[in-house]
Amino acid sequence: MRPLSQYIISNQTIFLRVDYNVPLKNHIIQDTTKIKSSIKTINYLLKHHNKIILATHLGRPDGKFQKEFSTAQLLPSIQEYFPKEKITFLPDCIGKNIHSTIQKSSSKIFLLENLRFYKEEEQNNTHFAHSLASVSNSYVNDAFAVSHRAHASVHSITQFLPSYAGFQLETEINQLKLALNPKRPCIWIIGGAKLDKINLINQAFKKADYILIGGALSFAFLRAKNIPIGQSKTDTKSITIAKTILKTKYAKKLILPQDFIVTQTMSPAAKSSFVKYNEIQPNQIALDLGPETIKIFKHFLRKAYTIVWNGPLGYYEWAKYATATKEIGRFLGTLTATTIVGGGETADAMHKFHLAYNLTHVSTGGGASLEFLSGKILPGIQALHDNEKKFKLK
Ligand code: ADP
Ligand code: 3PG
Ligand code: MG
Repeated sequence: MRPLSQYIISNQTIFLRVDYNVPLKNHIIQDTTKIKSSIKTINYLLKHHNKIILATHLGRPDGKFQKEFSTAQLLPSIQEYFPKEKITFLPDCIGKNIHSTIQKSSSKIFLLENLRFYKEEEQNNTHFAHSLASVSNSYVNDAFAVSHRAHASVHSITQFLPSYAGFQLETEINQLKLALNPKRPCIWIIGGAKLDKINLINQAFKKADYILIGGALSFAFLRAKNIPIGQSKTDTKSITIAKTILKTKYAKKLILPQDFIVTQTMSPAAKSSFVKYNEIQPNQIALDLGPETIKIFKHFLRKAYTIVWNGPLGYYEWAKYATATKEIGRFLGTLTATTIVGGGETADAMHKFHLAYNLTHVSTGGGASLEFLSGKILPGIQALHDNEKKFKLK
């Protein structure tokens, strides 16, 4: 793989894949970690007189234009980090108009509209990747957090351009490598709202001695055991996978919640109460782990030499349901274990609660860091390796 740090590219147009999939609330960015992590690469490319096309996804808009997912809302925040440059927003990510604007404009930084407004992005479509690439001379991946996705702007695009690993990607890989062969016992904590993370668990068993489950994944496992979860977040796909995981010999490594904080209304002020894991009522929504579970989690974590955590343990955006995330974050800071914590929202929580400084590494990657640490070669990284062989530079 070609690290950008060892090359000088100048006077080119660069397709720079970033991951600006940031936590948003009423169109306001809650945590700029992902944006900040790309500054070094952008400044380096600017210094060498390149034009930079920033390309990112935002959320999961399902292959169609949806205003609430427009990357236009990111522009003011990105602009703040580059006060001397006028960043131009482009209302699409492919097409003749986009190309001619880039070619004619005196701007040095452009921001493309959300890549996932095209279904071809997630399909890793070669023609789409070619269209993305066609105005650029080189490709830089500075998007560790999405490098576990074989998507057009992460994977296929490297067929068309000499490709480099940006400073952020290089740093993430170097930091995470330290935990690739973890000192054991190694404990993983998986929470959050993305139910597809359940697919990582089988792989994770190889590296983790215990996997502590929080967030919405908890409910897939409860439902798999026929325990009612009321209105809590789940889907049928993850329940089916949970059932197969529970049948494996590794199931004993899973530590599931023993209690929750529940409410009847999705509102920050609504009344809440504690329930045991098997006493969630049909009209209740579980939004955080309860005190018994926090105690059990600490009991396991105390013995670990390596801890890997992705996904908030509750609906931390509302103070009432932030306790488990805060308590476990604070507890990790008191341990001597290596602590790797990652994910857009998880990093947001760690910064918001002033806990990040006590952790070994806060990664921009959630699913990406879990897949990397489970030993998988991420498609985005593989593509850079292949590209190095395909495009021999003089
Ligand atoms: P990350 O960005 O750290 O990888 P995810 O994107 O998977 O994490 O999930 C973050 C979201 O998970 C947060 O917005 C949080 O509110 C939500 N979450 C955590 N626990 C629950 C829960 N019990 N029910 C619903 N959402 C939850
Ligand atoms: C993330 O936030 O973990 C990355 O941006 C990847 O997003 P995705 O899970 O929607 O692919
Ligand atoms: Mg997230």
